Amino acid sequence: MLFTPLDLGNVHLKNRIMMAPMATDFAGDDGLLQSEHTVHYASRALGQAGLIMLESTAVSRQGRGVDTNLGIWNDEQAQSLADLNVLLHRLGAKTGIQLWHSGRKKENESAEEPALSASALPFEDLPRQALTEAGIARVADEFVRAARRARDAGFDVIEVHAAHGFLVNEFLSPLLNDRRDRYGGGAKNRYRFLGEIVGGIRRVWDRGLFVRVSAEEYHPHGNHVEDHVRYAQWMKRQGVDLVHCSSGGVTREAPPVYPGYQVPYAERIRREADISTAAVGLIETGRQAEEILRSGRADLIGIGRPLLRNPFWAVEAARSLKVELDAPRVYRPYWKAE
Ligand SMILES: Cc1cc2nc3c(=O)[nH]c(=O)nc-3n(C[C@H](O)[C@H](O)[C@H](O)COP(=O)(O)O)c2cc1C
Repeated sequence: MLFTPLDLGNVHLKNRIMMAPMATDFAGDDGLLQSEHTVHYASRALGQAGLIMLESTAVSRQGRGVDTNLGIWNDEQAQSLADLNVLLHRLGAKTGIQLWHSGRKKENESAEEPALSASALPFEDLPRQALTEAGIARVADEFVRAARRARDAGFDVIEVHAAHGFLVNEFLSPLLNDRRDRYGGGAKNRYRFLGEIVGGIRRVWDRGLFVRVSAEEYHPHGNHVEDHVRYAQWMKRQGVDLVHCSSGGVTREAPPVYPGYQVPYAERIRREADISTAAVGLIETGRQAEEILRSGRADLIGIGRPLLRNPFWAVEAARSLKVELDAPRVYRPYWKAE
C-alpha cells in the first residue's frame, strides 16, 4: 500500500510517503528561500517522496521563532516558493507548506517584535502577554493571507501547524489557555481560533488542507487523543482533509518514545472521527510503514529524520517491499528490487 496513490480532496499523491515538515534554518533574516532549501527539498522529491511538506513557515515576521525561519508574509517570498514548486512538480512530487506562528515560544523577540501568546502565562520564566480579540483576528487574517500566497505559489497542500505548543496549540490546550473570553474555557471556545483560521483558509483555498496536532500533551490536565477526536470531527465539518498526528511540545515533559509511538493517535482519530490521518514519528522502515497502512491505522506516512539521513529512503523502502518504482529512466535499472 505504501506505493499506491492517495487522493485527498482534489490532490492526487503518487504514493503514501510524506516528507515531514522539518525546520532547516537555511533562511536569512528576510525569510527568503535559499538554494540550500532547493537542494534539500528537490533531493527528497527525486528520492520519490510523494508529498514534500515544507518546514514551518512563518505567516508574519513577528510569527518567526528565530531569524532563520522561512517566511510567506510577502510577495517576494511567495515568488521564490513558486519557483521551487515548479521544480518539485517536474520531479513528480506534490508539495505542501506548513503555515505557522511561533506564539509564546518565540526566541528572537524584541521591542518591535514581541512574542504573542494565547494567555499571559510565562514561558520558561519569560513574561508573555495575552492577545486581544483584535490581535487574534489580525493573526487569523495573516494565516489567510499566507494561504492566498500559497495558492498563487502553486502549492497542493496547506498544513496548519496546530501542534508542539506553538500559537494555535496554545489556544487548544487547557494547560496554556486560561482566557475568560470566547476563546477560552470549554473545548468549543478553545477550538475557536483554529476554527477561524481553517474557515478563513477554506474561503480562499480549494486544494488539500491538513492540520497538524499534538494529539497527546503528556499531562493529566492537557489534551488527550479523545479531545482530538472531537476537534477532528469539527475539522472534518469545516473541510479539513487530513489530521497529521504528532504529540508533545506543550510541556517540557519528554514522552516515552519507541518505534511508531504516535501511530495509536492516528489510528484512533481516523476510526472515531472518520477522517484521513497521517502517522509520523520513529517510522523507520518501509515494512513498518506498510503494516500501519494495511492495518488501517493511517492513510499517509510522515517520514522525518530517516529522510534527513537518506534522501532516497523511499527507494530503499520500495526495494524492501519488492515494488518497482516508476522512476526517471536513468535510475530505473539501479532502483530495481533484487
Ligand atoms: C530537524 C527537525 C526539524 C523539525 N521541524 C519541524 C517543523 O518545522 N514543524 C513540525 O511540525 N515538526 C517539525 N519536526 C518534527 C518532525 O516533523 C517529525 O514529527 C519528528 O521528527 C518525528 O518523526 P521522525 O521520527 O520520522 O523524525 C522537526 C524534526 C526535526 C528532526
